[in-house]
Amino acid sequence: MNIPVHLEERSYEIIIEAGARRKLSQLIAQLLPEAQACCIVTSETLVNEQWFDIDSGINQYTITVSDGEESKSIEVLGQVLEQLAEAKLSRRDLVVSVGGGAITDLAGFAAATYLRGIAVIHIPTTLLAQVDAAIGGKVGINLVAGKNLAGAFHQPRAVLCDVEVTATLAPEEIRSGLGEVAKCWLLEGKSASEIVATSPQDLLELAVNLKARIVSDDEREGGQRALLNYGHTLAHAIEKLCLAQSTPMRHGEAVAIGLRFAVRLALALERVDSAVVAETDAVVAGFDLDFAIPREFRTTDLVQAMSHDKKAHHDLTFVLPGPTGFGVVAGIDREIVTRVLEEFRNHE
Ligand code: GLY
Repeated sequence: MNIPVHLEERSYEIIIEAGARRKLSQLIAQLLPEAQACCIVTSETLVNEQWFDIDSGINQYTITVSDGEESKSIEVLGQVLEQLAEAKLSRRDLVVSVGGGAITDLAGFAAATYLRGIAVIHIPTTLLAQVDAAIGGKVGINLVAGKNLAGAFHQPRAVLCDVEVTATLAPEEIRSGLGEVAKCWLLEGKSASEIVATSPQDLLELAVNLKARIVSDDEREGGQRALLNYGHTLAHAIEKLCLAQSTPMRHGEAVAIGLRFAVRLALALERVDSAVVAETDAVVAGFDLDFAIPREFRTTDLVQAMSHDKKAHHDLTFVLPGPTGFGVVAGIDREIVTRVLEEFRNHE
């Protein structure tokens, strides 16, 4: 299936199919006929995977970086940029990212800044990257002060979601992506009872479709795109504390907790009734994402971290469901947030 992102001259397609990675050379010939070279940015682990048969059809250089979030640093970005220059990539050439969200973010940011911007094609290899990071053009790196604090909007020329590759993922990797899928399921207003009858490919397409539609309407997050942050205010706070205390938790697990908390906050603010809370819990359970906040985390630290969320403006801001749909609610009283979070944790 091909899902379009409509952004005038920056429009592109997200191709979802088994073996999609093998379309790379054909796509380069079609979209970038003048390109003579490309740099594949990938990880040291992925380059040794059996499925790693990436063929661009033009001169091809491979740049490997460490797996995971630590590659999204200013140092690694510098190394990648130097290697793009060593490979003598020109403005008509391109970067191809092959990896999870850390790689698509890093490679995309390198492409956005090298020679003031060259083309990038993403081949996301995790479910999480397929449904989120690779779509929509947000690219960047982390700073010591926080995640994704330096970046750009740089839309890819195409996104190749290869379901053959994601079929090789470990269950916990899949779970990490399912948190975002559950978020999309709720934003689309779908019921928990429909989950079992939906195939993995249909779940992927539902999430990609939603994100492509939202980005097409609001590329720079002036409105609708902020709704993709549903469940993320608490999720980001949990992830921040996890990082500080070396407690492992996957993004999707944190998002699942964040979704269940956000709907309870909406209930406390009389935006929804308890049936919506029950349905949200059922959706999260339907995706097998029943996780709890680690007991050792203090509620006050979580609230403090939430008030510093990148998307907030010096206050407590959440995406919440309400009588007329989802919306961004800013300036929520700290005492209410603390009380709802305490109650939520006590019932876990
Ligand atoms: N990950 C949220 C967005 O792309 O806007």
